[in-house]
Amino acid sequence: MMIIISLLLLASLLPQLTFTARVNVGIVNGTEAKPHSRPYMVSLQIDKKHVCGGFLISDEFVLTAAHCWKGYPEILTVMVGAHDLKNSKDSYRVEVKSYIPHQYCPFCSHWNDIMLLRLQEKVKPNNYVNWISLPKEGDVSGGTLCSVAGWGRLLTKGTLSSRLREANTTTINHEECQRKWGSMYFQASQMICAHGNGGSCLGDSGGPLVCGNTAVGVTSFVYIKGCNSPERPNVYTKISAYLPWIHQIIRNIE
Ligand SMILES: *[C@@H]1O[C@H](CO)[C@@H](O)[C@H](O)[C@H]1NC(C)=O
Ligand SMILES: *[C@@H]1O[C@H](CO)[C@@H](O)[C@H](O)[C@H]1NC(C)=O
Repeated sequence: MMIIISLLLLASLLPQLTFTARVNVGIVNGTEAKPHSRPYMVSLQIDKKHVCGGFLISDEFVLTAAHCWKGYPEILTVMVGAHDLKNSKDSYRVEVKSYIPHQYCPFCSHWNDIMLLRLQEKVKPNNYVNWISLPKEGDVSGGTLCSVAGWGRLLTKGTLSSRLREANTTTINHEECQRKWGSMYFQASQMICAHGNGGSCLGDSGGPLVCGNTAVGVTSFVYIKGCNSPERPNVYTKISAYLPWIHQIIRNIE
């Protein structure tokens, strides 16, 4: 019964929003990142093709979006240390030892869109590979300048870039996000919305929303009529709401 309801819900959502996975386009209006300036960024790949972003939060855990994995038998590999996906000089692939989605897709909705991946082997930190810190309890306030990064194409037709791109984006206070999206889609307790001159787009799912030196959000969904829409700003899973869940999983394996 539950599955039927959530599938119906999902079907009714589809015309309005789309998860930012699977389509090979990236940060809109962004600029190429300085190589290896974000050593926590990873590319999640299927058959050596980029499908989602993600980020290292320790030497053996990657945080990403739940909708980036469709469940077994799908296998994701994690490319660490990358800047140009076509030039793998400083990067390498690591297998995933366990998938720990907050909710199991394909029956997932846009709620609780967060997943931990435990790596098969621990990574060694260096100039190209490192992890990013998580926020403390509490909210990032509206109007904070943050940034997003991802691989893929620009939304605008044309140039394909295999290099990491980034854009600045500013968080919006949760009353305004709620008003713009409506409570069917946006829940301030578990989401953040942000808008900028540039922003994340299809293919950037799972990447971090970085404010200061902290990953505060996981790229989750955008308005289907256009990425970085001012009417329906891009939405990120709010990491601070999931800290107990994250810490419990990491503690349990230690
Ligand atoms: C993003 O913001 C930073 C900090 O204000 C600034 O130095 C940088 O030039 C901005 N980047 C873009 C692409 O606007
Ligand atoms: C990209 O930047 C241009 C110029 O600042 C702006 O007019 C346009 O709305 C931006 N597009 C997106 C999708 O953010």
